[in-house]
Amino acid sequence: MKLKIAPSILSADFGNLNKEMSELEPYCQLFHVDVMDGHFVPNITIGAPVVKCLNTKLPLDVHLMIENPEKYVEDFIKAGGDRIIVHSEACKDLKGVLKMIVDLGAEAGVSIKPGTPVSEIVSVLDLVEEVLVMTVEPGFGGQSFMADMVPKIRELRGLGFQKDIGVDGGINAETAKICREAGANLLVAGNYVFAGQNLVERIDRLKSLGG
Ligand code: DX5
Ligand code: ZN
Repeated sequence: MKLKIAPSILSADFGNLNKEMSELEPYCQLFHVDVMDGHFVPNITIGAPVVKCLNTKLPLDVHLMIENPEKYVEDFIKAGGDRIIVHSEACKDLKGVLKMIVDLGAEAGVSIKPGTPVSEIVSVLDLVEEVLVMTVEPGFGGQSFMADMVPKIRELRGLGFQKDIGVDGGINAETAKICREAGANLLVAGNYVFAGQNLVERIDRLKSLGG
């Protein structure tokens, strides 16, 4: 499957988001936008008004780490989200939320926290363009990769899932390789990319994820 690299702007300089994104744009396939509400995860980030200000030619994957996502998916689609990823743990009616996203004209994705098994989402796999396997507990950038999540990737491919499998959390050149070999094709990386001291280093780090 085609490799896609998605810098997570959570680790970018929020005062210069558009500048940092435009510099990386030629070297990646999409951007990953982390939305946190302080309830589903113990951290707060950005809402739809900020997403609306992001100015990029590349698709935006919006990773909603929020409770009651059905209340907000329309706002994020109107703000420019191309793919809206909701957490299975946050949805009372997961199928309903995913159908709502598709009906509103966006692509739907589903994410699972480390403690959630693949079996929880088997019934919705035909509705989504992506499963995002969390390889850290969601909430913060810069955490260590949980290698014991890798079997979930293999399990999904074993079930015949042929759309994007994303991995999110602790991705660097080494862990990217492990995930790739297991069958993941969409690599989200925040700290590894944006911790680079300068643009050349950041671009090198992005390129190293594809190796
Ligand atoms: C974590 C977020 C991630 C985060 C990844 O809750 O969903 O997208 O930005 O950051 P790194 O790559 O630094 O682990
Ligand atoms: Zn994320």
